[in-house]
Amino acid sequence: MDWGYKNRLSRIIRPQTGRTVMLAVDHGYFLGPTHRLEDVYTTVEPLLDQADALMLTRGILRSSIPAETATPIVLRVSGGSSIIGEDLSNETIMTSMEEAVRLNVAAVALSIFVGSDYEAQTLENLAILVDMAQEYGIPVLAVTAVGKELEKRDSRFLALSCRIAAEFGAGFVKTYYCDDFEKVVESCPVPVVIAGGPKLETELDAFKMAHDAIRMGAVGVDMGRNIWQNDHPMGMIKGIRAVVHENASPEEAYEIFASYKVS
Ligand code: R5P
Repeated sequence: MDWGYKNRLSRIIRPQTGRTVMLAVDHGYFLGPTHRLEDVYTTVEPLLDQADALMLTRGILRSSIPAETATPIVLRVSGGSSIIGEDLSNETIMTSMEEAVRLNVAAVALSIFVGSDYEAQTLENLAILVDMAQEYGIPVLAVTAVGKELEKRDSRFLALSCRIAAEFGAGFVKTYYCDDFEKVVESCPVPVVIAGGPKLETELDAFKMAHDAIRMGAVGVDMGRNIWQNDHPMGMIKGIRAVVHENASPEEAYEIFASYKVS
């Protein structure tokens, strides 16, 4: 592995624990002004130091994140469809590698939509992005997207998607937590992080999901709504950090969360 590539990846997946807490705020790229992300700076700035990496688009990076931040950036470079369009899977690469270098990113991220009408197109996007990114020593995060069909999130589909992402050269993969999650991780030869998905009913549910994912082999989370849609996002990210980096139990994480609730 080239030095630059290895250095970038180790800024995201912390060598001290081999794990990562990524904060995902790229939702606007197809959802527009998502609840609590209407003003990204106000929501994200207080959490920046708690994130091992921040995932977002170049527009929001330039407009809403201070350039002085030390938090590594994972740049979302795929897109092209919106929630009101016909098919979320119709994505292409929207940002050049020169732009990614200009923005000093630690990794670039792109979605693949396995099993969709645009399966081949999104896999070709991944192959092209990996070729482009390798030139500059930039890791590629492949996101195993499901579009509007959240019910697709089972271990058979996600194992298939993650494995295909790795086969095409992704440096790490973001997927969803599911029953039999260990099957997803076992057959994926590159590190796996989980998305949080829509906000869960309770905070404890989010801590349990992160805890189970780590126990079954994920290297961390790339979580959004379950952190910043909570009324106490600092408590959420602190609790998630304890689960990911300190092997805290969900209940211990909840105690950390609760201490931020009262302050
Ligand atoms: C995925 O492609 C989205 O753009 C988000 O980055 C991802 O879903 C993670 O956020 P959340 O935890 O809110 O699902």
